[in-house]
Amino acid sequence: IDGTAGVGKSSVGKAVALKYGISFLSTGQMYRCLGWKVLKSGINMDDESAVIKAAKDIVWGFERQSDSSLKVLVDGQYLGDKLQLEEVGRAASKVSAIGPARAVIMQKQIDLGREGNIVMEGRDIGTAICPDAPVKIYLIANAEARAQRRVKQLQEQGEKADYDEILASIISRDERDSNRSCSPLKPAPDAVIIDTSALSLDEVIEKVMEEVGKVW
Ligand code: DC
Repeated sequence: IDGTAGVGKSSVGKAVALKYGISFLSTGQMYRCLGWKVLKSGINMDDESAVIKAAKDIVWGFERQSDSSLKVLVDGQYLGDKLQLEEVGRAASKVSAIGPARAVIMQKQIDLGREGNIVMEGRDIGTAICPDAPVKIYLIANAEARAQRRVKQLQEQGEKADYDEILASIISRDERDSNRSCSPLKPAPDAVIIDTSALSLDEVIEKVMEEVGKVW
């Protein structure tokens, strides 16, 4: 499952994985872990060789949770809610555009994909990580719909949310993720494209299940 930030890939992916009793990995978590590590160690984002070294040094761990998702451990540590911070998301987007750092993380994801029995969610799963996946889904939704969902999500968590700020951040992240030279965000030629702007989560899950049902 690929698509832009905030399009609902994780909720959909988790539901599909649970239904089939297989694992779910939100691959952005790994870029977020690297972004967090870079921020925490005070590495300058523009110092590419330091970011690449940080990526190579990470010892990854994966633990399956009862909701089917794989919890990502970085150097034995689970970072939890810290990974969802806007600042960490921005850092993740930046480090993910540094080719050699990206290659290290991609290789780990390719290995996980080869083991099979997994739903993976990200930006380049259908194009680069699992080019032979039997089902490829590409979710889209306009930036306004995604910003509204994010505002609702933050409010439900009791946090304050500024719609305009969130919308601007979504637009700039989309632009960076789509225009980078290494594995830019784009649908695989054989992906099924679903526009979720006007659909409920359950409706999206149903459409994805329909696609899975055709091959499994
Ligand atoms: O899905 P997410 O918001 O957790 O992803 C964080 C960042 O990581 C996102 O801005 C782009 C990058 N990313 C990527 O380049 N490739 C992926 N497969 C997943 C995420």
